Amino acid sequence: MKKTFNNSALRTAGAALCIGAGLLAGCRGDRSDKPPHQFFPDLDDQPRWKPQAETPFYANKRTMREPPANVVAFGRVGISGDETWGKPWAEQRVDLLRDGEAVFKGTTGVNADGSPKYVDKIPASIEITPDFIKLGQTKFNIYCSVCHGFDGSGKGMVGQQWSYPLPNFYDPKYKDQTQYTGKDGYVFNVIRNGVYTNGEQKMPGYGHALSEKQAWAVVAYFRALQESRAVPLSEVPDAERPVLEEKIRQSPPAAGSAAPAAPASNPADAPKGGGK
Ligand code: HEC
Repeated sequence: MKKTFNNSALRTAGAALCIGAGLLAGCRGDRSDKPPHQFFPDLDDQPRWKPQAETPFYANKRTMREPPANVVAFGRVGISGDETWGKPWAEQRVDLLRDGEAVFKGTTGVNADGSPKYVDKIPASIEITPDFIKLGQTKFNIYCSVCHGFDGSGKGMVGQQWSYPLPNFYDPKYKDQTQYTGKDGYVFNVIRNGVYTNGEQKMPGYGHALSEKQAWAVVAYFRALQESRAVPLSEVPDAERPVLEEKIRQSPPAAGSAAPAAPASNPADAPKGGGK
């Protein structure tokens, strides 16, 4: 027997579809005091315990667990140092911060006007090696180049579209250590916390992505980038110079964002100053 759909079955199915679509459409944009529809409730309603609640699960019936013996909450409990129990911890914390402030914050206290006193140079306890600068280059190319350009000129793909003008890292104010903008500690802070101008954040901070060590590596690379434009060709080691000169002959310096191959050897940057 031949299988056919009869008309009434089709009509019923069609009507059911229309009603279904109508119901769904009706959900959109309506105001209602009823609880919302939950199509995937498992994410909203996960089994969990509320703080300070009771549970039969544990013998003492408390959902909240006791911390292990002798634990002192470091960040949450305010330790004034007046408590006998808290004194050693308070002292230790002060010590930690004093030794670590330069490394962890890039500052050494505050100036008379209350502004942070940025360290001039990357703290001496951080060893600057070629690998360290390479680490900075890798991180710079990942996190900074989109806006600032691989070469630090401020002409990255995102930077050109950004709602606020981007600086050029070769501006003398980023080298002059009599100004705060020229200090390594300031650049470190910019990397970790971003830039606020007139109370508005103009550059996002990268503290979530770059550890202190990595941020200092980016500072080192930042300086290497600047240096790459400050060195006359005559100072390039003899072994490297012919290679550079050949590259310069082949490609005239382009304004732009080509990724330098290695610190201080960006052919597009090198020929600027004196040289021959
Ligand atoms: C999303 C775009 C964006 C990214 C990514 C970005 N910046 Fe910036 N940066 C800006 C903008 C915009 C400014 C200018 C802010 C101002 O002057 O208020 C700026 C300013 C700066 C300054 C100068 C600050 C001053 O006070 O003049 C430095 C140094 C800097 N950025 C370094 C970096 C480094 C290093 C990274 C990577 C860790 C980075 N930026 C990533 C947008 C960005």
